[in-house]
Amino acid sequence: MKPKILITREILPEALDYLKEHTDYEIGATKRNLTKEEIIKKVQGKEGLLSLLVDDIDKEVINSAPSLKIIANCAVGYNNIDISEAKKKGILVTNTPGVLTETTADLTWALIMAVARKIPQADQYTRRKKFKGWELDLFLGKEITGKRLGIIGMGRIGKAVALRAQAFSMEIVYSDPHRLTPEEEEKYKASALPLDKLLSTADIITIHASLNPQTFHLISREKINLIRKDAVLINAARGPIVDEKALAKALEKGQIWGAGLDVYEKEPEIETKLFSLDNVVLLPHIASATYETRLRMAMMAARNLVQGLKGEKPENLVV
Ligand code: GLV
Repeated sequence: MKPKILITREILPEALDYLKEHTDYEIGATKRNLTKEEIIKKVQGKEGLLSLLVDDIDKEVINSAPSLKIIANCAVGYNNIDISEAKKKGILVTNTPGVLTETTADLTWALIMAVARKIPQADQYTRRKKFKGWELDLFLGKEITGKRLGIIGMGRIGKAVALRAQAFSMEIVYSDPHRLTPEEEEKYKASALPLDKLLSTADIITIHASLNPQTFHLISREKINLIRKDAVLINAARGPIVDEKALAKALEKGQIWGAGLDVYEKEPEIETKLFSLDNVVLLPHIASATYETRLRMAMMAARNLVQGLKGEKPENLVV
């Protein structure tokens, strides 16, 4: 008999075909996310759980599922899972690192450009038929070439963002608890800086850290106050790394030049003030959203799940 698993929300067909061969799956929902109560109900009797980053797999969910052997998260971040509780219960947890690195770095750059060159605003202006001819001061943006880029979190994605920055002849600085080796610093043309120094000197600041108790509100009100008045802040990592209310206030007061956000503190809620501000570009958490990448993520999560259920060590084991 194939092991029973729960896929919280329908994933791409290729990954479902693969899972059909190896498991007896139930799909929690198609066009919506499951509530925690629904996950608890549907995970009963399941050996595997394929979760998405929106699924809150906390202590309560884990304790309600005594038959569970593995949770395969279809995301590189796994802050939605209570890892220590899973470990206590001997449940394996996996994620999908690597396959979304380039796509996320691309989107980060799209956000940098969109904010710096006011692309969404200019698009709206043109669509509304307001374009009456070339003007010397129409949508004056911010130059990127040759500026200082500050990367907070120099892991896989931070490094991929740095490689792209070299094409813009930028000076790259980074802040990370783990210092790169001299060879890596050479490769990425990046120099380490303490966070405060990075915040107070960079023209463009971009966050690529993972969310954990150490990075929750890492960019607090106090840190936001260090950012230059002409700087841009980008967050395509996790919302709670930034104090969203404090950021909205700073943007409203013009204390920061602009921001680009793909993630929010309490998704899908967004600090209301942000909607009316012209100096922020808002995206609906799409950094890894290309068909190719989402397929790679779903396949990786599916393979991890099957490996774990077979008693093998999954390729992308977190705990
Ligand atoms: C996306 O946000 C991910 O963690 O995969």
